[in-house]
Amino acid sequence: MTDTLDIKITKTSKSRLEETDFSHLPFGKVFSDHMFVADYEDGEWKNLQIVPYDELSFSPAMSVLHYGQAFFEGLKAYKHADGKATLFRPYKNAERFNKSAERLCAPELPEDIFVQSIAALVNLDKDWIPTAEHHSLYIRPFMFSTDPYLGVQPSKTYKYVVLTGPVGAYFPKPLKVKFETYYTRAAEGGFGFAKAAGNYAGSLLPAQEAMKEGFDQLIWTDAKEHAYVEELGAANVMFVINGKLITPSTRDSILKGVTRDSVLTLARHWGMEVEERRISVAEVGEALKSGTLSEAFGVGTAATIAPIASIGFEGELYHLPNVTKAEFSNRALQALNDIRYGFGPDEFGWNYTI
Ligand code: PLP
Ligand code: COI
Repeated sequence: MTDTLDIKITKTSKSRLEETDFSHLPFGKVFSDHMFVADYEDGEWKNLQIVPYDELSFSPAMSVLHYGQAFFEGLKAYKHADGKATLFRPYKNAERFNKSAERLCAPELPEDIFVQSIAALVNLDKDWIPTAEHHSLYIRPFMFSTDPYLGVQPSKTYKYVVLTGPVGAYFPKPLKVKFETYYTRAAEGGFGFAKAAGNYAGSLLPAQEAMKEGFDQLIWTDAKEHAYVEELGAANVMFVINGKLITPSTRDSILKGVTRDSVLTLARHWGMEVEERRISVAEVGEALKSGTLSEAFGVGTAATIAPIASIGFEGELYHLPNVTKAEFSNRALQALNDIRYGFGPDEFGWNYTI
């Protein structure tokens, strides 16, 4: 597949692989040797290149710096025991990238350019895919507007870039979370469903305030009433209540996670009762109080399956059963890992072999 695109490759003269400490991989700080870059100009994608990972230089008037036409994706590559490298459901990310592009008035990136740019880059830097348990190569494709122009209008030029880097767990321990009932991450009619940079900028202050109160993360609630659960902001959220898997149905203000879809598919495949619907904070609160909430967890590419240890509700902190007892989420994590690392059959055809 990768040789159907005309990608110019300039290799680094000095790999940083040898000097990289693979036993210490803080998320998002270590980058592989190369990156992919392409430009959108005159209505088409040009200059498809893989170059050594390096700085980029821009005009200070570049529109993204002022008006935020920027969005990204996150996916991972895994190394199997036989040395084969795979991507997990990359066409799902390609599809979502274009949903983000459409909402932000940016140009479509053909799905094959998205997937093949990543495949070519990962193929070149495949020695950067870590092999330790729960480790993988995180892939960050992103697009931003580059017109040097201060008028508020869609840019005519863009850059598409892909970075990769070896990672371990995003959340180092089970999470202590609370419902956010004042601030809003995304509203109906807004762009919470897009992986827009601005969604994350707006979440920083509320997250910082929650951290000052001793919480690790927020559970965002709806913008109108702050009464319904939305998502975690770096992951979707799921609950097991009375043995049923319950997760908010997706809407304008919720990102349609690839991991969410994968976990729901597994649950249904196993014959578990699954409900995708609006779920109120009060309902989760009641389930916490009555002990019918047996599991709560985040699901996302970086987060994988991140167990929630405790939830703040109406000023009280409720502790969930120990994560070792979290039957469903542990089984789902194991099943996802078996597919991703090739320990078991890829029953749903989710792996894309490079
Ligand atoms: N919600 C938000 C806001 C996210 O940033 C992410 C991470 O990508 C998710 C949910 C989970 O989505 P996915 O499983 O596709 O990574
Ligand atoms: C991902 O899981 O890929 C994300 O984008 C989460 C991120 C904000 C770290």
